[in-house]
Amino acid sequence: MTTMLRVRNLAKTFTLHPQGGIRLPVLGGVNFEVAAGECLVLAGPSGAGKSTLLRTLYGNYRLQEGSVAIRHGDKMIELGNASPQSILSLRRTTVGYVSQFLRVIPRVATLDLVAEPLRARGVTATEANERAAEWLARLGLPARLWHLPPATFSGGEQQRVNIARSMIAEYPLLLLDEPTASLDADNRRIVVDLMNRARDAGAALVGIFHDADVRAAVGTRSYAVEPLREAA
Ligand SMILES: Nc1ncnc2c1ncn2[C@@H]1O[C@H](COP(=O)(O)OP(=O)(O)OP(=O)(O)O)[C@@H](O)[C@H]1O
Ligand SMILES: [Mg+2]
Repeated sequence: MTTMLRVRNLAKTFTLHPQGGIRLPVLGGVNFEVAAGECLVLAGPSGAGKSTLLRTLYGNYRLQEGSVAIRHGDKMIELGNASPQSILSLRRTTVGYVSQFLRVIPRVATLDLVAEPLRARGVTATEANERAAEWLARLGLPARLWHLPPATFSGGEQQRVNIARSMIAEYPLLLLDEPTASLDADNRRIVVDLMNRARDAGAALVGIFHDADVRAAVGTRSYAVEPLREAA
């Protein structure tokens, strides 16, 4: 099995500068690997650091301690040594991320937002827009909304835009932070089906799923993110 992601002894401490530099250790001793065709479920109570871990894997935070290696083509890229350019290159072709909340880009039409990851890879505007329309239709987003920016959409509509945008490029590694949290049962089933198809097609998934049914349907293994004990 091809290892897509390898995490070794990862630790993360937030330093709260506005609060006089208070240090808040969140993650420590995180170790796991994920292979193509697997879905690793990150388990652990609220506040344990699951979202922080996914954001770290996406390169949103500089790696402070430990190692994160991601397969990029036929090379393993070490996030700790990666330049901003190679992080962008990873995001363009290898790693997709569905955040817990959509970060709305003002004034960009939904269709363009979803087509953008394909455009960034050189797909023509016509083809990228056609595929974006297919994804939005698959996710049941009404066509009357496609030409509007998602800023005023409902939570579930925004989440589906988020999913379409993160899955359209069929990344080999997908990081999913509660992708079904604001969806109704029908949409949840559709998204579960899309995640299963991506995994069966050989993508490696790392996901946080609040819903036990979703966990059972998509997950192949789980990893417990343990809350760090309070320093005495
Ligand atoms: N940017 C930040 N600055 C300071 N502290 C942060 C920051 N982001 C997260 N934290 C803190 O890190 C801890 C872990 O947060 P995180 O969002 O990763 O938890 P989680 O496991 O995803 O929880 P949930 O299941 O509720 O989503 C929390 O105590 C949170 O307050
Ligand atoms: Mg979270």
